[in-house]
Amino acid sequence: MTGKKVIITGVPGVGKTSVITESIRRLEEEGVPYQSINFGTFMFEVAQKENMVQDRDEMRKLDKNTQKRLQQLASQAIARIDGNVIIDTHASVKTPVGFLAGLPEWVLKELKPDLIILVETDSDQILKRRLSDASRVRDIEGYRDIQDHQDFNRAVAAAYAMFTGCTIRYIKNPDFLLEKAVEDMVQTLR
Ligand code: AP5
Repeated sequence: MTGKKVIITGVPGVGKTSVITESIRRLEEEGVPYQSINFGTFMFEVAQKENMVQDRDEMRKLDKNTQKRLQQLASQAIARIDGNVIIDTHASVKTPVGFLAGLPEWVLKELKPDLIILVETDSDQILKRRLSDASRVRDIEGYRDIQDHQDFNRAVAAAYAMFTGCTIRYIKNPDFLLEKAVEDMVQTLR
């Protein structure tokens, strides 16, 4: 397989998809094509076909072993995609029984990422974005819980770097500064 594999993560509502979408448009203009793949969509297609869920926000509530099976199937399918690929996913998923690693060994072995990016911002901004997004069924939690999740993601990303030898980059996406986040992302992916 040729091309770069970049994994982009961030807690729900941090705006990673917004940053990815605009960055890909800018890179395309510069002649650096990337394909964006949403890991959750690959999982959701199987989960829906097997009548396990009605919407993507129900997946994190499924039994842990079911989530792991969906993860494995998604990573195997994504690994077959050629060229520069951005994988929009989660460093960890908050399930009712604790954090589930988004990129465990069997996923990393398939994806072999060159780089993992964590999109972050202040937790109170994430809380506000979740509350104003009517299109999704976001977990209701306070900003301290959101901060715990961001902290856990940094910790688990260090383990992913140890396991794969990939680099880890943090990109900030604060309110009113989406353009700056896109600039940082484009520079990193160029
Ligand atoms: P997925 O749909 O990828 O998860 P998500 O993070 O919940 O969804 P979004 O992509 O919508 O979040 P986002 O933060 O990128 O938001 P957006 O850009 O829209 O995954 C779904 C499910 O799949 C997961 O829950 C999990 O179950 C499963 N899954 C996925 N990967 C997995 C894995 N590896 N292992 C196991 N399970 C996995 O932005 C949000 C809002 O913020 C928008 O309103 C936007 O306008 C606003 N915004 C963005 N940037 C700014 C800014 N700078 N200033 C102000 N507002 C901003």
